[in-house]
Amino acid sequence: MRRVYLDNSATTPVDPRVVEAMMPYLFERFGNPSSVHFYGQEARSAVDRARREVAALVGARAGEVVFLSGGTEANNLAIRGVCEQQRERGRHIITTAIEHSSVRAICDALERRGWEVTRLPVYEDGIVRLEDVRAALRDDTVLVSVMLANNEIGTIQPVADIGALVRERRAAGQKHLWLHTDAVQAIGRMRTDVEELGCDLMSMSAHKLYAPKGAGALYVRRGTRLAPQNVGGHQERERRGGTEAVPLLVAFGEAARLARLELDERIEHLRHLRDRFEAGVADSVSDIVFNGDRVRRLPNISNISFRYIEGEGLLINLDMQGVAVSTGSACSSGSLEPSPVIRALGRDDELARGSIRFSLGRDTTDEEVAYVLEALPRAVENLRRLSPLYQKAQAERACAPV
Ligand SMILES: Cc1ncc(COP(=O)(O)O)c(C=O)c1O
Repeated sequence: MRRVYLDNSATTPVDPRVVEAMMPYLFERFGNPSSVHFYGQEARSAVDRARREVAALVGARAGEVVFLSGGTEANNLAIRGVCEQQRERGRHIITTAIEHSSVRAICDALERRGWEVTRLPVYEDGIVRLEDVRAALRDDTVLVSVMLANNEIGTIQPVADIGALVRERRAAGQKHLWLHTDAVQAIGRMRTDVEELGCDLMSMSAHKLYAPKGAGALYVRRGTRLAPQNVGGHQERERRGGTEAVPLLVAFGEAARLARLELDERIEHLRHLRDRFEAGVADSVSDIVFNGDRVRRLPNISNISFRYIEGEGLLINLDMQGVAVSTGSACSSGSLEPSPVIRALGRDDELARGSIRFSLGRDTTDEEVAYVLEALPRAVENLRRLSPLYQKAQAERACAPV
């Protein structure tokens, strides 16, 4: 069967050039970077090189990049690390209603342990307002955590403006206030520069960037103090103990280098295909709503709500036609919980349950988009034919005066 992968925000295939770069570190260059001998030094210099590449992708210094296992661990180290370090100075965190589930879970856990959490709303455009951040800041706020680009709808948050606000507060004497941004979806898909953003901490993950799963990084601005979450080793300057995953980090470094060199080209390709896809869907499927701001968003995500059907049903129907997509809804105790992100846009339950994320990648082709544009209207039509609500709406439309 023909297969089309439109779930690149979940994970990406590994670039063959990345595999080539990492292979020697599985075989002849297998040393432990902490060893003093030749093998160790070889591995150490490979990790250092990878660190420089990841730093270069986001405009950081190499010494500000902490390697770890992925985006979830980066979010844990950033948020728990700051909160535990600053516990005597303040216990208030500001975050948003549309963060990745890992950030949500970490904030919920801190709340249960006595921290206060303000979760800022987003509006119909899926974007947080600077004024809401300003209004939420308190003297005991120690951390603002706002993602750079959302993983379900792709909207880009005003992190640079929030960064300027945080610096302003720090200059006015609130020295213990830090800004974290989860940039897992953003890196490699938009220009991402820690100086422009003014963030102190930034989470990254390798497997969204055409490198293997199991590697990630946290950018930690020089001077930012964190309580380590993984102790028991001197690695990563005591910020994350454990022998480095050398082959995975080499792969991450190479993927970062390629992303930096090819960024403009990738963005252009993704934007062209996404626009073509969206125009095709708008032409061929009725009763749909595009979710999230149409301009301030990543070039690779298109999130669409389909009235009268469940996203899960559509996902399965598309999968049977070889098309891989995802929904934001979570299956808990047999019932489908509507996506909190789509709900945060103010959408009703029906639209929240009927939403699908199509996420394109570097390897997506025009021809694949054309295939999906044939499969999707067919899948929607099949499901709606079985939907009593749709039949009723059609009958009412037929009777309505023109
Ligand atoms: C915005 C965002 N943050 C964090 C993560 C978690 O990253 P990882 O899978 O590397 O733990 C993801 C993964 O889906 C994500 O989209």
